[in-house]
Amino acid sequence: MLNADMARFVETSDEWIRERTGISQRHIAADDEFTSDLATHASRAALAHAGMDAGEIDLIVLATATPDLTFPATATMVQEKLGIRQGAAFDIQAVCSGFLYALATADNFIKAGQAKNALVIGAETFSRILDWTDRTTCVLFGDGAGAMVLSSASEGEGLIKTHLRSDGQYCDLLYVDGGPSRTKTVGHLRMQGNQVFRHAVGKIAGSMEELSELAGIPISEIDWFVPHQANQRILEGVAKRLSIPVEKVISTVGRHGNTSAASIPLAFDTAVKDGRIKRGDLVLMEALGGGFTWGAALARY
Ligand code: ACO
Repeated sequence: MLNADMARFVETSDEWIRERTGISQRHIAADDEFTSDLATHASRAALAHAGMDAGEIDLIVLATATPDLTFPATATMVQEKLGIRQGAAFDIQAVCSGFLYALATADNFIKAGQAKNALVIGAETFSRILDWTDRTTCVLFGDGAGAMVLSSASEGEGLIKTHLRSDGQYCDLLYVDGGPSRTKTVGHLRMQGNQVFRHAVGKIAGSMEELSELAGIPISEIDWFVPHQANQRILEGVAKRLSIPVEKVISTVGRHGNTSAASIPLAFDTAVKDGRIKRGDLVLMEALGGGFTWGAALARY
């Protein structure tokens, strides 16, 4: 859906959206297309790319804030759609940081010897929780899914280190005003955008610096920066704060909008497919989302 299409039902303009966010368009899932469908599609692509059969997967960790149903976990629906009968599957809820939380969880399972091959997915249908009359939020988000395979057998590649943070005092700045326990409804996304913006760059840059110190790898050594795609101004602000050259920043927010937990794997996939990220490259990822939750991850592709 193009910005101009949105201007037909809310008071906005292509110019305002592009200038403030860098977004030109976003994908909206069809009514009969669910988060588990997008996730299954992305998983099949990730398995094909890894040259792996679904039967080899013994862990599925799916990050989403827009599950098909309250339960069971969307991860188990993906497990069923892929015909996987072994291992474990569960969801992770950390909103826009969800993919980083899922990566860290799967990596720790692998490092603890509890899984060999993990499918890590970020999948969202945020269009279902948007208030389409609220121009301050509905123009920002899109639907999508991305996936990665993490394997204990990959020597010299994979996750090097992750660093996760959260601070619940910011719950009211970005939340959904519905849920099974409190309202018995699904609810809509509510956000104080300028407040979120105010916190984003500092918190994200801080966690990247902490991660770089924990890993003993200076940020200047990274080949690619794959940020959560919330807003072009946030990702450029983080890059500038950490002196990351603009040529190293992967940005897909213009084409996808903010796809929450799906944004990092979607951006990663784009840069692998267009030949920018190559085998052996050092990649730094980051995100901030509702809660707040935030963090960073360093990987050797
Ligand atoms: N079209 C036209 N005008 C708009 C729109 C719109 N879609 N949305 C808001 N406005 C108006 C406001 O009503 C306001 O008008 P007023 O001055 O008459 O009151 C004016 O634009 C300025 O509003 P602000 O909210 O101050 O605009 P700001 O420059 O902060 O940009 C934005 C808003 C884009 C939401 C920005 O704050 C932002 O990107 N915040 C980060 C939010 C985010 O990315 N959240 C995602 C989840 S968290 C994450 O992923 C990092």
